[in-house]
Amino acid sequence: IGYRQNSFTSDGLPYDDEQVGLQEQIIIHFSHVVAENTPKGLAASRFAELVKEKTKGRVLVQVYPNGILYSDDNELEALKKNEIQMIAPTFSKMTDLLPTWQVLDLPFVFHNEEQVQKLYQNNALKTALLDELEDEQIKGLDFWHNGFKQIAANDKLIQQVDDFTNLRIRIMPSEMLQQQFTLLRATPVTTSFGNVYTQIEKKGVEAQENTISNLYSKGFHTFEKNITLSNHGILGYAVLMNESFWKKLEPNIQNQIMDALNEMKDWQLMTSHNINQKSLTELKKLPNVTIHTLTKDEKQQWQAQLAPIYSRYDKQIDDHYYKLLREQIN
Ligand code: LMR
Repeated sequence: IGYRQNSFTSDGLPYDDEQVGLQEQIIIHFSHVVAENTPKGLAASRFAELVKEKTKGRVLVQVYPNGILYSDDNELEALKKNEIQMIAPTFSKMTDLLPTWQVLDLPFVFHNEEQVQKLYQNNALKTALLDELEDEQIKGLDFWHNGFKQIAANDKLIQQVDDFTNLRIRIMPSEMLQQQFTLLRATPVTTSFGNVYTQIEKKGVEAQENTISNLYSKGFHTFEKNITLSNHGILGYAVLMNESFWKKLEPNIQNQIMDALNEMKDWQLMTSHNINQKSLTELKKLPNVTIHTLTKDEKQQWQAQLAPIYSRYDKQIDDHYYKLLREQIN
């Protein structure tokens, strides 16, 4: 998989084009777990278009949405084995492999869109985190954004810290998220994105944290009708490529891929914002969906309850990254 025909000689070196006479087409299989009409789904399609354009059709990115190829439980492994060449898991899903990435999941770090946007520019923190992937034989290309996470619950609206008590809340696999909801005295339940629906139906979970676009595009609001706009964390993606695949690409193709990512950056941030807004507008129209914006007092309560997570990150993981984050976004 990856190359329709072999573009490389047996020693891994690219063919001299003169020698082969004709340039071979390169296929990048890009697997992801969400719907097409989401920030990640649209970014993947836009990326495919730009790469095709820039390489004049030499490189084709084939996008497989909705977890049809791999779920978030096994996509990273499939990437490492080069069964697929690109994925874009959430930051949270990288933290098992690279605990320093937990810095992006600290609660209430980002207070507004402006700060969030700074994270996605080419900056020292992003470079440092992506560089860590080298040890894992993964090429970290970029970050894409989705939005702020909110809380959606089946039977009751979550407002006060006490509303979390014993609430079975679905989280992405992440120690940092696990600890946050434990501090809130909830019962965090880890599941892959593909299993959330079944878990809700079985009442295995009673709530989840996610972005409005992810909630709306998968119809989770039909069960989880009580939505609290808490903006307590962000959900973003690491855009990753199989490293040996990347290394075999000719430098001009590597540059064209990076150019495509840079060119779509502003568009990606704007689109993610718009989709979340549009989905929220749609949700507000639904009579059986309740939407509550966390008040200042409620937010302070949540923040106070979650405060110990900061010293844990600094002491046990890496305060350098937290400092870097503060520097980048303020
Ligand atoms: C989730 O598991 O809720 C998200 O990671 C889905 C996604 O990729 O946006």
